[in-house]
Order: sequence, then C-alpha cells, then structure tokens
Amino acid sequence: MTEQKRIPVILDGDPGHDDAIAWTIAHASGRFDILAVTTAAGNQTIEKTTYNALRVCTLIGLNVPVARGCPRPLLTEPMNAPSVHGESGLDGPPLPEPAFEAEPIGAVELMARVIRESGDKVTIVSTGPMTNTAALLIAHPELKERIERVSMMGGGLLYGNWTPAAEFNILVDPEAAKIVFESGVPILMAGLDVTEKALVKPADFERIREQGSAVSDIVWQWLEFFYRFHRTLGYEGAPMHDPCAVMALIHPELFTMRDYYVQIETLGDYCKGATVPDWHGTLGHAPNATCIMDVDRDAFADRLVELIGRYKEVGR
Ligand code: RIB
Ligand code: CA
Repeated sequence: MTEQKRIPVILDGDPGHDDAIAWTIAHASGRFDILAVTTAAGNQTIEKTTYNALRVCTLIGLNVPVARGCPRPLLTEPMNAPSVHGESGLDGPPLPEPAFEAEPIGAVELMARVIRESGDKVTIVSTGPMTNTAALLIAHPELKERIERVSMMGGGLLYGNWTPAAEFNILVDPEAAKIVFESGVPILMAGLDVTEKALVKPADFERIREQGSAVSDIVWQWLEFFYRFHRTLGYEGAPMHDPCAVMALIHPELFTMRDYYVQIETLGDYCKGATVPDWHGTLGHAPNATCIMDVDRDAFADRLVELIGRYKEVGR
C-alpha cells in the first residue's frame, strides 16, 4: 500500500489539556510533517502556554521549533480559563521539564519562515484564539496563497460555551477570527457543534491507562482532569474540542461536514464572538468554511485510544 504523503502543518494552540492531546495524536499519527509549534494566549498567559508547549513536546518527543505567540488578543482585553485548565494551564500530572528552549523569534515570524521554506502549501492547525494566524495574514499577505487551509477548533453555529453565543477561542479574539474567516484561506471548522459530541468517556480513559506507557499515563490523567470540570456540567465524557481539528484531517470519514458562509460577530452586548452561519445562503456569499456538524463518537474514541497506544510501541 503506498504511504500517504505527510501533510505539512503548523500546530498553533494554547495548551491546555485538549491542545496537548491534539498535539499528542497528531505526532503519533505519522500523517503530518510538523514544521513548527506556536503558542497562543488563551487558556492561560503566553508565558504559561509556551512553557506547557515545550513540556508537551518534550513528553511526546516532538523536537521541532517552538515559538512564543502574540501575548494578547489583537484588540479585546486578555482573558484566561483557569477554571477549566488550572493555574498552570495544564494542571494535573507532573510533566517533564522542557528539553529545549523556544526559538528566539516570535510565532508569526516562525510561521512565515516555515511557510516560505515549505515546498508544499502548509496547513495551520489552530486550537486556541486565532491571534497568531491573523497577525501572520496581516504581516505577510504574500504568504496567504501558501496556506493550504486552517483546520481550527472554535466557534459554534448554534451556541457558545463561554457566553450563550460565543465559544472561548473566538471570544478571546473575535477580531482575529474575523480576519481569518474573511481572508479567503480555506477553513475547516470544528466548532462546538461537533466537539461536544466527540466525548471521550471514563471507560476510554481506562483503555488508555491500561496501555502503561509514559505518555498514556499522562494522557489518561489529562482526560480525567478535563472531565472533572465537564462532569459538573452534566457531560458524559471529556469533550475533545481540539483533537477534532486534528482527527478531521486524519480520519475525515468519521465526520459529517457542511459548507457555510460564516461571519464573526465582533460587536454587541450579548453576541460578541458568535460564529454566525448563513444557513440558507441569503447573503449571496460563497461558503468560507467547511463546518463539522457530527462525528461517529465510538469510532473517534477508538481512533484516539489507538493513536495514544502507538507511544507504547516506540517505548514512550
Ligand atoms: O472552547 C474550547 C476551546 O477553548 C479549546 O481550544 C480549549 O483548549 C480552549 O482553548
Ligand atoms: Ca485550545
């Protein structure tokens, strides 16, 4: 069987338990040529998410350039989520100290460098506020054509999770999201519509715990920690928000997707940060996003467990 060509990607996120799991399965899959990791301020401050990114990369053996991203949203006031991810942004099991330092250049310049140097178009996997990607498009418009697409976790076509209308990643930096959604770069949107169905349940945590590798031992504890918050809200499992943005690239057959023209609300007292789909094409614009609407949960969980299991095979 011919080996599938690896997808050149930049992993941009705000680890964050679910960002960390997304990066862990991305690296395990063998489907990506991970060119760089860049950090966003969101779940925690840029200092904390960058430290977390270096620790996650060290844990999983992902030795690629890591660069610190924009320290705050483009316009709106900074906001973090310690209630969900803890004061460190990645509370729970102790992690190894970073085996290497972040690059001396910022995220935008690292993104621009790897995109410029890549022979193929690059996919940006965005699992936090979209500040870095928006800043890249502003600072380097000539690179827009070199971006294959942005596979992002963010938004929700029907509801939010941080306000009734807005999902956290979009709400933290709605102007950044607006810039990206209006840029013309193809978008694969994993919003709450699908991520809240992509539940990994305690029985799945146990399957991962039983794998007995150093990585699986951390991952099941990340899941347990993430579930602890969501269980109080009535969830039957840990919603795998960010892993959806990766799994949809690896196994698109597990998902149901629809193309819509999606607008980002940047004003308003009640709906700032909303992702508003033109359900019936009334605005006359071509769709700007492929929106993921549903997932085969059992298959998703099986694939995630299997991907984590690969670390046992390589002694990690
Ligand atoms: O709303 C969920 C998103 O916000 C996820 O990316 C999570 O990591 C947080 O950043
Ligand atoms: Ca995230």
